[in-house]
Amino acid sequence: MSAKRLSKLDAPKVLKDDERVMNDNDFIVSKTDTKGFITYCNQTFIDMCMYSQDELIGANHNLIRHPDMPRIAFKLCWQLIQSGEEFFGFVKNLRKDGGYYWVFANITSSVDTNGNTVGYYSVRRKPSKKGLEAVMPLYKQLVDAEKQGGMAASEALLADFLKKNGTTYEELVTTLQAM
Ligand SMILES: Cc1cc2nc3c(=O)[nH]c(=O)nc-3n(C[C@H](O)[C@H](O)[C@H](O)COP(=O)(O)O)c2cc1C
Repeated sequence: MSAKRLSKLDAPKVLKDDERVMNDNDFIVSKTDTKGFITYCNQTFIDMCMYSQDELIGANHNLIRHPDMPRIAFKLCWQLIQSGEEFFGFVKNLRKDGGYYWVFANITSSVDTNGNTVGYYSVRRKPSKKGLEAVMPLYKQLVDAEKQGGMAASEALLADFLKKNGTTYEELVTTLQAM
């Protein structure tokens, strides 16, 4: 483990419009403790985010949080996984060099033999191109809403969007990934 626990405060401040696209059959895997500190990462994760294993183990997962991601997405994620449900979502991640990569993520709880949550487990695959085309403008609107009116504004905007489209968050993202 590196001497210092890295977090989003250590992430690059200068962003590059440089995308690294996941391979069709690759999976990015990481595990965290119950607070989101990384306890395991696979080689594909290391290759994609450009941090070393030493830098990643012990770091907070928000190290790779991209500012284009709406806060509401992570609120929803933590609400779901802390209540024992799984999360699916499109996530833009920030690489160590300031570039980015998109994933379609699934996060589930890791439970011990007594059923207690001991951490979380995430597997990401290549996101659908059509799904991303739909998600990018929605995330932009959500981020703008958060700048204006905080999380309450993006929460209301997302609820309105889902209602208008007659869908739920999970149905929306799984349908988009299947496109
Ligand atoms: C297992 C697991 C994997 C996660 N993977 C990511 C990830 O790849 N990218 C990301 O930005 N946040 C990820 N998160 C969410 C982060 O813990 C955090 O909520 C998010 O980066 C927002 O951080 P902030 O609220 O400090 O800005 C993950 C959380 C868990 C539990």
